[in-house]
Amino acid sequence: MSEKTTEVRLAFLSALEAVETAEDLERIRVEYIGKKGYVTELLKEMKSLSNEEKKTFGQAVNVLKNEVNDAIAEKREALKQKEIELENSRMPEFDISMPATLSRGSYHPITLVQRQCEEIFRSMGFTVEDYSEIVSDYECFESLNIPKNHPARDMQDTYYLDNGQLLKTQTSAAQNTIYKKYRDQLVNEGKPIKAIFPGRCFRNEATDACHENTFFQMEGVMVDKNISISNLIFFMKTMLSEVFQKDIKVRLRPGFFPFVEPGFELDISCLICGGEGCPSCKHSGWLELCPCGMIHPEVLKAGGIDPEEYTGFAFGLGLTRLAMMKYGVKDIRDLNSGSLKCLDQFTDDK
Ligand code: DAH
Repeated sequence: MSEKTTEVRLAFLSALEAVETAEDLERIRVEYIGKKGYVTELLKEMKSLSNEEKKTFGQAVNVLKNEVNDAIAEKREALKQKEIELENSRMPEFDISMPATLSRGSYHPITLVQRQCEEIFRSMGFTVEDYSEIVSDYECFESLNIPKNHPARDMQDTYYLDNGQLLKTQTSAAQNTIYKKYRDQLVNEGKPIKAIFPGRCFRNEATDACHENTFFQMEGVMVDKNISISNLIFFMKTMLSEVFQKDIKVRLRPGFFPFVEPGFELDISCLICGGEGCPSCKHSGWLELCPCGMIHPEVLKAGGIDPEEYTGFAFGLGLTRLAMMKYGVKDIRDLNSGSLKCLDQFTDDK
């Protein structure tokens, strides 16, 4: 009887070898271990055997049945695997988790120069402060030595809210709050106040190539004992040479701002026309980039700092102008236009 099981085993193995599809496999399964399959039929033949023979033959058939079962399961798994591989080989070779055809976009040029300036000043020990765009009259004007009806307000008309607050016309509006925030550290711990505060400013402007109703500035202040104009000039020069990575022609001339005394205009030679004169520099060859000065005693007093003991400098860097100079943008209005054709050109590594 053992020849019979061997016969069926060999027949099964060669049939299995030829199997290519899941359907073939199912057919063979029924053919061998189905109700009327070859293996099942073998068991029926036991009836004619002696008890002793029944035992050994029965065991042999069971072993065969298990073998067939296992081989079929194994083959089923192999076929499945083959199908997956075939499916994969049909897939195009790209990362399907990537977003369709969208480009990654780029940072706005003003964001780029702002971050660069923040980095430069951070490395010199300045903190970077965030400040609200809606401020009070006190923050924007009164605390900066610009009382009501002061003519300096004429140049800084802005957008007023019904509650008397306004859209800030200058980042200087944060000065008073910053002085109050760090005054105790200055007086009690002898820690100088060193802070920059970049922000968006608004003015009621007639727009042209170099004026916009919305623009960015970055204010900076340093207050300590014995701060002088030399400290101011040092920080301004360091910042400009870092930003432009080359020597820039600058000039310092007197300028009036009620919150500094003395006050200066720090101009740089126009990088768009090389100092020849163009619409971007109002045909003067120079661009007012960073008005600055020594903080007025009244302004220090309003911030709770004794001007007899402490002095400081302040500057208001025109971030929008800086971006225009750095990237050669001729018209300030392009920066607020939202035109991707213009803004896409700027990346981190430029
Ligand atoms: N806030 C002034 C403006 O927007 C600019 C300015 C001038 C800021 C002199 C300063 C400064 O800190 O010292 O016109």
